[in-house]
Amino acid sequence: MNVSSKAGHGQESMWQTELIVHPSDLEIGHFIIRLDIPWLETPFPLQGVLVDSDKTRNWFIEHCQWVVIDYSRSPNKLRPESNRLSDSAVLAARQSDPHHPINVLRGSRLDSESVGAALKAYSLLDTQSRRLIKSFADRGAIEIKTAEKVVGELSEYLERNLAAMVWLTRIKDRDDYTAQHSINCAILALGLAHVLEWSTEMVEQAGLAALLHDLGNVNLDLSILNKPGRLSASEYQHIKTHTTIGHQLLCDEPDVHPDVARVALEHHERPDGLGYPDGKKAEEIHPLSLLVSVVDVYDAVTSHRVYRPARSHHDALGILWRGRGRKFDRSMVETFIHFMGWVAPGTLVRLSSGELAVVEETNIVHGFYPIVRKLIPGTVGYRAGARIDLSELKDSEGRPQLKISEVLPDGAQGVKVKSLLVSALED
Ligand SMILES: [Fe+2]
Repeated sequence: MNVSSKAGHGQESMWQTELIVHPSDLEIGHFIIRLDIPWLETPFPLQGVLVDSDKTRNWFIEHCQWVVIDYSRSPNKLRPESNRLSDSAVLAARQSDPHHPINVLRGSRLDSESVGAALKAYSLLDTQSRRLIKSFADRGAIEIKTAEKVVGELSEYLERNLAAMVWLTRIKDRDDYTAQHSINCAILALGLAHVLEWSTEMVEQAGLAALLHDLGNVNLDLSILNKPGRLSASEYQHIKTHTTIGHQLLCDEPDVHPDVARVALEHHERPDGLGYPDGKKAEEIHPLSLLVSVVDVYDAVTSHRVYRPARSHHDALGILWRGRGRKFDRSMVETFIHFMGWVAPGTLVRLSSGELAVVEETNIVHGFYPIVRKLIPGTVGYRAGARIDLSELKDSEGRPQLKISEVLPDGAQGVKVKSLLVSALED
């Protein structure tokens, strides 16, 4: 399934004026700026070619899976409407553009300025999110304007500090799971919706839907919601009602868009039809719900719960990967994993030497050889050592000396990444 087309935004601009198109959709007067094959393998001498004849057009149809046209440089100004590209072709085209949002996070670094700003922003938004949930629990009223404000501010912070904001979603040092989960899901949903090139309206709805998707939980029995250990069949049935309750509550609010309310109902549905509450099939589930289900599971898995400890970023991506196409939309998962990267800035890792380290800057070319700070054990906990670029640390035969052997969850081995990283960056 092509999620973009379902959302009504197929072949949406990649970058303001760029469109990924199937070569069969080319018309005379389109200007091609990128291809799925190297330019040197084409008969065209320049990187960029105007489709000025059927012969040129046919060459691309015969040799390419996809091309990127620059709409603004195309004399015909025609915007192809059909959507013949597969999800994998769209993903490949996005990956090929180093400036595309899908690649931004993996080439980024954490520095003291961005971490400081993100910490401030996160704490402000966290307070607002808690207030939102509390006022709902106390009075049953959804302060939709506050929720919209939170999402609007989040969007702005994300544009400026994407890496640090996404890193903070993995720092689970608060006990209030519900508020933290809401804000984390909103951050991740906004990021993923941007990467999918959704329209501004859809991106905002994704953020809002992610913020409010579990609102039905406030009506659940807390002793069941927070029960350590296995749930009985009837307790699980009770938990499942948060979807229908949340949906009803949001439908009762005239200012909430019906698609946003629908996410509360559908975020536990699965493409294979084995989800709840209605066992809907892939094509019956709204793309917003498919998106929120991916970020919901990622954040839940990496969070501490009363019934199990937090698992690592790696484990969470692995769960999504193994469930792609069955539990989660395949294309969403593949896009999300590429966006997040298997080794992300701010991740606690074990090196092949057995030592612990924190990733400070990822390396887009050498994924498992980022810039890290080794953790040095002291009398009380650890402290962060000097920066080491693993891609440059070679033995006498030019082979890398160290690489990442395991990605650990925040808090593992008693390491609190946030305080370590903040003090290391201040030095
Ligand atoms: Fe839920």
